[in-house]
Amino acid sequence: MRIIEAKNYDHMSRQAANIISAQVILKPDCVLGLATGSSPIGTYKQLIDWYNKGDIDFSLVRTVNLDEYCGLDGSNDQSYRYFMHNNFFDHININPDNINIPDGKNENAEEECKRYNDIIKSMGGIDLQLLGLGPNGHIGFNEPADFFSMDTHKVSLTDATIQANKRFFEKEEDVPRFAYTMGIRNIMQAERVLMVVSGKSKAKVVKEAFFGDVTPKVPASILQVHKNFTLVADEEALSEL
Ligand code: F6R
Repeated sequence: MRIIEAKNYDHMSRQAANIISAQVILKPDCVLGLATGSSPIGTYKQLIDWYNKGDIDFSLVRTVNLDEYCGLDGSNDQSYRYFMHNNFFDHININPDNINIPDGKNENAEEECKRYNDIIKSMGGIDLQLLGLGPNGHIGFNEPADFFSMDTHKVSLTDATIQANKRFFEKEEDVPRFAYTMGIRNIMQAERVLMVVSGKSKAKVVKEAFFGDVTPKVPASILQVHKNFTLVADEEALSEL
């Protein structure tokens, strides 16, 4: 585990974008595992900026997103597909055929999870997986539990996650209760994992996840044993260490 201390959110975003940019330059047809949420938005902005300057080419890059809400399709502005297009894909030269996100509208969970696992397998695995950290230690939608779920699966969101995500919806009732998410094995098999964390509100969970026991009760803690895990966090997020 490597920890890169950034001064603030912008600095964290530039550091993370540098690592992703190096990955794309070294392997132009790499598989990037991507995340939504507020943490990676600055990273995407920086990558778009370098793309506009001609420094990065995404034409061969393939992507797999971590998760998607069940019941929302890409035209819903709260879906993760919408988020990804709005914050990243629509601003770079990625081939739309190379974008993969779980299909929240597929009600057949078994079929959808198999389809997604097969996609990851057929790509030869993930070269770099970008992650945020949930306030309860979740990664993707792998919520605190008594065991680690291995592959893509359907989850019930915990109350803590519903509370954390309701800021994006008009009413709490509108927050979907289920999601599709990559599992812990999908994430752990990535060649490199890069997590971005910012702000005082994450300081306690950063300490728990990376300086406490490895336990499914804090899903991110499993990253302590990943062979190539880099945490880029700002001073506030590291302030409890
Ligand atoms: C997003 C995701 C989530 C977020 C986490 C942190 O695709 O899978 O695990 O990374 O909830 O969210 P933010 O960055 O909004 O604090």
